[in-house]
Amino acid sequence: MTKVHAAITAVGGYVPDYILTNAELETMMDTTDEWIQTRTGIRERRILKGEGMGSSEMAVKAVANLLEKRGISPEEIELVICATTTPDMMFPATANIICDKAGMKNAWGYDVNAACSGFIFALNTAAQFIETGRHKKVVVVGVDKMSSIMNYEDRAVSIIFGDGSGAVLLEPDTEGYGILDAILRTDGSGRVFLHQKAGGSARPATIETVMNKEHYVYQEGKSVFKFAVKNMADVSAEIMARNGLTADDVAWLVPHQANKRIIDATAERMQVSAEKVMVNIHKYGNTTNGTLPLCLWEWESKLHRGDNIILAAFGGGFTWGSTYIRWAYDTK
Ligand code: UT7
Repeated sequence: MTKVHAAITAVGGYVPDYILTNAELETMMDTTDEWIQTRTGIRERRILKGEGMGSSEMAVKAVANLLEKRGISPEEIELVICATTTPDMMFPATANIICDKAGMKNAWGYDVNAACSGFIFALNTAAQFIETGRHKKVVVVGVDKMSSIMNYEDRAVSIIFGDGSGAVLLEPDTEGYGILDAILRTDGSGRVFLHQKAGGSARPATIETVMNKEHYVYQEGKSVFKFAVKNMADVSAEIMARNGLTADDVAWLVPHQANKRIIDATAERMQVSAEKVMVNIHKYGNTTNGTLPLCLWEWESKLHRGDNIILAAFGGGFTWGSTYIRWAYDTK
């Protein structure tokens, strides 16, 4: 029997207009453009402004972009999986809100929360529905409004994050293209280094939690950095080895954009040269679930049918993983 793979057949993206530069951050906290660029590679990030504007606003635009490019109507989508760490609300799922706003009336949907690894976790979850034949058109959207959980008095954390969204469409392929392999990992003991202290069921919101600024991202950057460098590089090298891929066989590395130094370390371990590595961290910072699909969105016109692509991510949880994709189309 012919094996069915889930192939990405379209990519959409959206970033908000407002640009928060390092120069503006210098006016908000004790930092410098030089420090931020040297330590992270980031020059600016996008911020979603406006009363009542949640993650779904960006996701809907990314999905609309995707549907237009593929030339299909929202009613044709059967399932939407939204990877986000900053849902519009605790419930219902942001996927539901996206389906409603984007007119995907025949789709069911749910959210996946795996912090910065959410997009590849969601992508591989979605792939199962295609591989089993259950669905023919599945949208995976990665979105985060990180500015909504940022303490702009905390210079060690807030300088790296930004807002944005990317989306991909998955459809069945029987010619050997699509998502071919994945290595996905979690280590819950890592939660102490990167989390949001309050607002969940263990520590619901009170006046005290708000006053203590416990609804913002808490990160012990150095520890996270060490785990990220090791684990993202390990799974990227492992997926290459078990699929018999050398650096020459890899057309593109699509790494999570948290810190340029982590990206460089992963590429070095894979022995993939810099021109094959997608990097947009200087423009967008770390958009958490948005980074990987935003890279695919920006690079789409350079991708060719048959390109071997490795996606790699690391994030809170800890969560991490890599995914091997054989790209399915040339852009017209
Ligand atoms: O995407 C999810 C996963 N997250 C990550 O992968 C993030 C991983 N971690 C990192 O990327 C880095 O740890 C950061 C960029 C967040 C921080 O860089 P770092 O080199 O680890 O800095 P640090 O927090 O250890 O701080 C070093 C020094 C400290 O000063 P002292 O104690 O040496 O005097 C900080 O107070 O740099 C100081 N510092 C800053 N100085 C100017 C911290 N943040 C800033 C800042 N501007 N924004």
